Amino acid sequence: MLVLGIESTCDETAAAVVKDGKEILSNVISSQIALHQPYGGVFPEVACRSHIDMILPIVDESLKKANVKKEEIDLIAVAKAPGLIGAVLIGVNVAKGLSLAWNRPFIGINHIEAHLYAAMMANLDHLEFPSLGIVISGGHTMILKITEIGKYELIGKTIDDAIGEAFDKVATILDLSYPGGPAIEALAKTGDSDKYKFSPSVVKDNPYNFSFSGLKTKILYKVKGQSSKKNDAIIIQEDEKKHIAASFQKTAFSDIIDKASAAAKEFNCKAVYLGGGVSNNQKLKEMFKEKQLQIPIFWPIPGLSLDNAAMIAGLGYQKFIKTNMSDPFSMQAFAKEAIV
Ligand code: KG4
Ligand code: ZN
Repeated sequence: MLVLGIESTCDETAAAVVKDGKEILSNVISSQIALHQPYGGVFPEVACRSHIDMILPIVDESLKKANVKKEEIDLIAVAKAPGLIGAVLIGVNVAKGLSLAWNRPFIGINHIEAHLYAAMMANLDHLEFPSLGIVISGGHTMILKITEIGKYELIGKTIDDAIGEAFDKVATILDLSYPGGPAIEALAKTGDSDKYKFSPSVVKDNPYNFSFSGLKTKILYKVKGQSSKKNDAIIIQEDEKKHIAASFQKTAFSDIIDKASAAAKEFNCKAVYLGGGVSNNQKLKEMFKEKQLQIPIFWPIPGLSLDNAAMIAGLGYQKFIKTNMSDPFSMQAFAKEAIV
């Protein structure tokens, strides 16, 4: 079964062709980084205009790269939530239009759920349940118990900033360019992660919840002075930035790894699946290895950590074969949609 995936929830316009939920025939991603860089973050209006320009050429390219004709596509899967609503609507309406024009069914996919599927795609024959799912992206930070594809129980989540958002905000404080995550990772490589001792915030009520907002403020005060505002001038030496970046990264990742490790034990998880943009970070992979969790840890294969359409097509296949149901044209796009 050949599935065309479409993803336009934020600042990537993406299309992919995937066979039987796992074999990636093409995975085309057009990044808008250069367009948003002057603004230091994603400018929604600019994102939408670019999606409109790019989406049909990207779909064409995905078919061409996969060496597949449009008549051979069996199903169209599209990210329908969560994201910038204007951006999500573009992908959803293109999917509906193609479904009508090609006379093929379409299915809407939650892109956060697809981030978890990205870590499963290459290992479909050896999936282990119950397992621990960890979503670490620009908009979400969650620990879940996965009992099967599509069945999740929430264990913990951030009560304020998502981890990717914290990376982006700390990068802005340090005057690094957008997107912040890769910039912090690169700078942190030459820094001493023990030079500054930051501690993660403790969240009452649920030991598996996260809070990154306090950590970000501690860094702001260290870099710009006590009780400073985000637009104030930096008061530390340029050379200190790398140590701050390394210390922040270590603190945030230790928090994720400690909670993941405790949750895996408490909920008897047989494997860990990680997804979302922050799972692209090599230091995080090293730190998970050092923790020696005693259960296998699965990461998205290269190209599948950040937003992409291959994970949408893959999960679209799984949902479709399970129920044999597509979505009606009345299907809505949503800025927010929980998977549990
Ligand atoms: O999953 P994603 O592409 O989009 C969302 O669904 O949000 O994640 C984007 C987030 C951004 O906050 C970005 O700074 C972060 O992932 N990110 C990273 C790295 N690459 C991307 N964070 C830390 N280290 C990285 N290498
Ligand atoms: Zn994402």
